[in-house]
Amino acid sequence: MQKESRGMSKMSLKCNLFAALLLCGVAHAADLPQQAADIHLGVATCAASQCHGSAVAREGSAVLQNEYVTWTSVDPHSGAYRTLLSDASIAIAARLGLASAHTADICLDCHADNVPLARRGERFQLSDGVGCEACHGGAERWIDTHYQAQTVTHAANLAAGLYTGEDPQQRAGLCLSCHLGNAGKFASHRIMAAGHPRLAFELDTFTELWRTSGGMAHYRPDDDYRQRKGDVAHVDTWAAGLLADARARLALLDQGNPAVFPELGLYDCHACHRSMKSVQSRRLPRHGGAPPGVPFLQDGSFVMGLVVARAVAPALAADVEAALAGLHAATNLQARREAAGTLDQILQVLSRDVGAGSLVRRQAAILRALLDAGAAGEFQDYASAEQAFMAIQMLAFELEDSRLQSELDKLADALDDDERYRPQQFSRLLMAVAGD
Ligand code: HEC
Ligand code: HEC
Ligand code: HEC
Ligand code: HEC
Repeated sequence: MQKESRGMSKMSLKCNLFAALLLCGVAHAADLPQQAADIHLGVATCAASQCHGSAVAREGSAVLQNEYVTWTSVDPHSGAYRTLLSDASIAIAARLGLASAHTADICLDCHADNVPLARRGERFQLSDGVGCEACHGGAERWIDTHYQAQTVTHAANLAAGLYTGEDPQQRAGLCLSCHLGNAGKFASHRIMAAGHPRLAFELDTFTELWRTSGGMAHYRPDDDYRQRKGDVAHVDTWAAGLLADARARLALLDQGNPAVFPELGLYDCHACHRSMKSVQSRRLPRHGGAPPGVPFLQDGSFVMGLVVARAVAPALAADVEAALAGLHAATNLQARREAAGTLDQILQVLSRDVGAGSLVRRQAAILRALLDAGAAGEFQDYASAEQAFMAIQMLAFELEDSRLQSELDKLADALDDDERYRPQQFSRLLMAVAGD
């Protein structure tokens, strides 16, 4: 588990009139950069020193203008293609029977801006990895105008194909497309079993880890930024991200190819990959009465959704839990599809409740619900515990709870080795924190 220091703002989600026009109005899901029709011109197009290739952050400019330097020197995404040339990738490719990792779509779709040839401009290079346009959208229609802030509005840039990365829902869709997968690309159990690392994701934590990687900021959510793009609190980013993750998993289950059913990549990895000495009979209400020996779906983000419901929409909590139990109990494709549909409808309602205002004033209640769930032993599986940790860490800083902050190291240590995770120990730690 990674820890971070968070210098965070406590300002809440403001759908003020200005932002409402620009941001809150963009409720529809935009096409992801990989799918939208625009041509990707290539990172080199953004890298001129008067554009985003300044050696140092510029003062007096709305944006830092050194994004290229930041990206190329510290952003993990600039090395994503290079990773495909590593010994680890060569070994993965060999096990999968691929000619090579760096020429295989199955790898390039997440480790590069792998748009079709027809959508690659002259300066586009696949070897740039996950470049600017993989996240900001193909620049074909906005490259020439997006910096004319006096005359060209942000809304006009969005209409010209700039991706809405500031909106937590849209950002979740973007990041999750590679950090979980979607209908077109997925880090399947086949890829994992060939040696790919397990993927874990939480939108707020990963945004902060990435935004400040190597100690350099990709962008600064300062007053000027908030004025232009609206202000989303960390807790709201967190909630939007986990609900998007849960719903994306349900969509992936629904697309489940009967030929590869069950896709173990959607299951709790540690249900199978752990020591046989660590017997854990995990029968919580949310597991729907499944007997010992049955592997569970990975449900960390669902459990966080349940915690959010308990804290902010108690009337929905029992429904979420019952629907999750129904999903865990479903034993064939058809039953699972129906259970996934039921749960998705409830999560959609919860998303609407959660998205309707800021959760900032409910942070203490959410933390309480998290600690109570922990003390009650609900984080039996590593994926839930990992999600709980990231949420607790975020809330400890948002609530400026210095005592809880001082406990984070101990919690992180308990999650240090995923295959030797001891739920009772984690639960005891949370009980101690919750008790006083
Ligand atoms: C096109 C696919 C893609 C998109 C979109 C994407 N990522 Fe990544 N991300 C990757 C890959 C691949 C890596 C691993 C890079 C490597 O080490 O080779 C990565 C690495 C990271 C890491 C470092 C993880 C670690 O363990 O050190 C963070 C943090 C991260 N991404 C956050 C984000 C966030 C936040 C978003 C959305 C704003 C995002 N990513 C969008 C593909 C993507
Ligand atoms: C669904 C998207 C996705 C697919 C498909 C995918 N990867 Fe990854 N890969 C990632 C992400 C995201 C990370 C970073 C994980 C993290 O640290 O959180 C990563 C990490 C890695 C790493 C570890 C990098 C490091 O620095 O430790 C290797 C090696 C790797 N991928 C190789 C491959 C190969 C080879 C393929 C094709 C067989 C592939 N990946 C397919 C998303 C993907
Ligand atoms: C992994 C995804 C990702 C990559 C790669 C990426 N960005 Fe960003 N970038 C974001 C997100 C998310 C934000 C914050 C939301 C927003 O304002 O769009 C952002 C913010 C910015 C901002 C600040 C916008 C503002 O209004 O203040 C600039 C400028 C920017 N990026 C330029 C670049 C450039 C240039 C590159 C390539 C060298 C790049 N980005 C690569 C995701 C990415
Ligand atoms: C239902 C049980 C089950 C689940 C759930 C499961 N796996 Fe596996 N995994 C297996 C089996 C069986 C193998 C094959 C072992 C072999 O080839 O001998 C395997 C192989 C692997 C391997 C290769 C290990 C080796 O020794 O060759 C890795 C890595 C891996 N899985 C990772 C994961 C990850 C990551 C997840 C969660 C996303 C996951 N597994 C979920 C059963 C499972």
